[in-house]
Amino acid sequence: MNFTLTPEQELFRKSAREFALKELEPIAADLDREHRVALDVLKKLGSLGYLGMTVPEEYGGIGADMLSYILVMEELSRSCASTSTAVTVQNSLCNTLLVEFGSETQKRKYLPELATGKKFGAFALTEPESGSDAAGMKTTAVPKGDSFILNGTKRFITSAGFADIFLVFALTDPSAGNRGVSCFLVERHTPGFTVGKEEDKMGIRGSSTCELFFENCRVPRENLIGELNRGFKVAMVTLDSGRIGVAAQALGIAQAALDEAIQYAKERKAFGKPLAEFQAIQFKLAEMKTKVEAARLLVYKAAWKKDHKLDYIMDASIAKLYASEIASEVADEAVQIFGGYGYIRDYKVERLYRDARITRIYEGTSEIQKLVIARELLKD
Ligand code: CAA
Repeated sequence: MNFTLTPEQELFRKSAREFALKELEPIAADLDREHRVALDVLKKLGSLGYLGMTVPEEYGGIGADMLSYILVMEELSRSCASTSTAVTVQNSLCNTLLVEFGSETQKRKYLPELATGKKFGAFALTEPESGSDAAGMKTTAVPKGDSFILNGTKRFITSAGFADIFLVFALTDPSAGNRGVSCFLVERHTPGFTVGKEEDKMGIRGSSTCELFFENCRVPRENLIGELNRGFKVAMVTLDSGRIGVAAQALGIAQAALDEAIQYAKERKAFGKPLAEFQAIQFKLAEMKTKVEAARLLVYKAAWKKDHKLDYIMDASIAKLYASEIASEVADEAVQIFGGYGYIRDYKVERLYRDARITRIYEGTSEIQKLVIARELLKD
């Protein structure tokens, strides 16, 4: 593994940083306070290619490598983890799923608009009574003529408030457990499909999270993605890759918390000198930096392995587990360095502390990552 970035990867990082500083940093606090999605900024990200990072050019993407996408995720997340949440769902979950499992017709029909932000996607796996136990879903899809009839409810679906296209997992053979799940593409205005209210979340408040309801929703057979009854595998493979995106998001949040803490420690005085001159604060900063760098190496390594077509399942879970855990720790220490100010909404570290928390939950909790890692370690 090479520890330097290519000029192209450096350019992606630099341009994403510039975009984030200009377009996201000034509005991130307002998005959080107003519980508002920056759809206009997401559209701009789409027009610049950031929503089709790894989509091949023939399907309207920019055909970049995974590491470039991860660098973009990290930089956007430093400024606004809410907006980067939609970026990761679009790139990692929707585009990747369609690139890897969609038919030629499905790719040509849907990817060009997703990759350029003309349309937005959502990934609907979780249900009110099945999160970590993804195969415990209850939503069904029953064949009828040239269609499937979907019934059921999905919960905590990111980007659902504005998505046009939903990749929905449902049971097509309820007696077969995870071997009876299939994946369907459902367009927003399909009769029998409704999107529920926005969840009032602790963090990433400038992202959208809703319930989905399917009541005798007729989906054409041509919208089946991948093979019938093999949808669970589609979800798992997609999540393996998606977890690197969330890990990069956590890394960006942690880096932002460290940046804030360093700046504050230099400016704020106590007992007649800047906080940065106290060894207690220096040690905190040193530990924060060490964690951020360790997370960075794990995240980049997982992306690098994917780019080199090496088995990266365990690496993705290790990166997601570690980066999300340290994002909470680093944000927590940043709040501590800020003292009372860190507990007040006016300061960015307060938002980072809340935003960091979700990265230990979505796209597989820390406990699920440990399970995946242990399974990979123990398999024959
Ligand atoms: N990668 C590839 N394939 C995998 C896999 C992985 N990580 N984990 C399992 N599989 C495959 C197995 O090889 C097996 O394939 P075959 O049928 O070919 O043998 C199949 O999937 C079934 O595997 P298991 O019997 O091991 O499945 P399980 O029911 O025991 O579940 C689990 C395994 C790891 C617990 C899985 O349910 C899981 O990952 N749960 C977490 C779900 C999750 O991450 N949810 C997040 C929701 S999405 C989200 O948050 C998006 C958002 O909006 C931001």
